[in-house]
Amino acid sequence: PGKHEYSIACMPADGIGPEVIGAGVEVLKTMSEASSGAFTFQFEDYDWSSDTYKKLGKYIPDGGLEDLRRHDAILFGAVGAPDVPDHISLWGLRLAICQPFQQYANVRPTKILRGTESPLRKAKTGDLDWVIIRENSEGEYAGQGGRSHRGQPWETSTEVSIFTRHCVERLIRFAFEIAQKRPKKHITVVTKSNAQRNGMVMWDEIAYEVAKDFPDVQMDKMLVDAMTCRMVLQPNSIDTIVATNLHADILSDLAAALAGSIGIAPTSNLDPTRKNPSMFEPIHGSAFDITGKGVANPVGTFWTAAEMLRWLGEEQAADVLMECIEKVCEAGILTRDLGGTAGTKEVTNAVCEEVRKAY
Ligand code: NAI
Ligand code: MG
Repeated sequence: PGKHEYSIACMPADGIGPEVIGAGVEVLKTMSEASSGAFTFQFEDYDWSSDTYKKLGKYIPDGGLEDLRRHDAILFGAVGAPDVPDHISLWGLRLAICQPFQQYANVRPTKILRGTESPLRKAKTGDLDWVIIRENSEGEYAGQGGRSHRGQPWETSTEVSIFTRHCVERLIRFAFEIAQKRPKKHITVVTKSNAQRNGMVMWDEIAYEVAKDFPDVQMDKMLVDAMTCRMVLQPNSIDTIVATNLHADILSDLAAALAGSIGIAPTSNLDPTRKNPSMFEPIHGSAFDITGKGVANPVGTFWTAAEMLRWLGEEQAADVLMECIEKVCEAGILTRDLGGTAGTKEVTNAVCEEVRKAY
């Protein structure tokens, strides 16, 4: 019994971001209407993007973060432009929100949707159904390091990983809670504790400590390189994965590709304490190569919207939306990245049509 009225900050940003977020908002509005207002959204648009950066020298205006805090959730597109270095855009917008809002858990579910194919010859729907929990506040992306002797032949740079007991423990605990709620109750802790003998060994130790509080969850441990082989060769042996910021970033792109396309995969940047709004986005980037062509796959954003609904407490609506997405895939209404011929608009219309039928 919540209020069921949600204030959503929409931040499409760059490239195909506006195309897919536009589609996502259309589907969410359709859901609200079809459910006769069982839940409603107030969307507020934020035009923070690489264009704003190029005009004003910054992505987020003064006081912007405080303003953003008013919302229940943030729906984010993608940031990155061909004429802005990627480390400027990523740190200027996405990380500039994730880090101060303590969205320390990045959750990335992956599965083979009905009606779509995995590039793995033997994998069918049901054989690959994972959730990757990525540390999202520190680690390899803590921003520690520097550059000296610029331009000299002895130019030197450091990129230092930061692992704190506090942040590692809260993340691993959150991942065990997710694993516990899933039918298989199985978690794989991924590190590289043979070669990286400090931070990664501490990760392993903390995982064993946390595991004691979850006797019903079965845990195993993998080195990240071996994990890539297991994902390809035995997808069925995996359920929940927890890993560092860098490792999980890479594994989750692999996961999306193994499930069929990066165009379907969602991600949630969560503050599990709920002190700050969480941020939801498709995992893909701004995809300059297809921007403006009307062919971007909106399914990643629809699945993202379903994850957002779930986080807001609208579990049933989230299930309805996932079912509608899979029905549309099963009907063969697929974008080019999934081997189909449909455009963004056609897929969006088809999902809206299913939503109307579902209520
Ligand atoms: P990308 O994800 O934008 O594109 C990779 C490939 O996947 C491209 O061929 C693209 O056409 C395709 N693709 C991506 N999304 C798709 C969709 N919805 N439907 C159909 N095909 C899709 O990654 P890339 O090319 O490495 O990066 C482009 C820019 O995006 C860079 O500036 C990068 O920094 C930024 N980026 C931003 C992210 C974010 O905002 N979270 C995440 C990843 C990249
Ligand atoms: Mg990535």
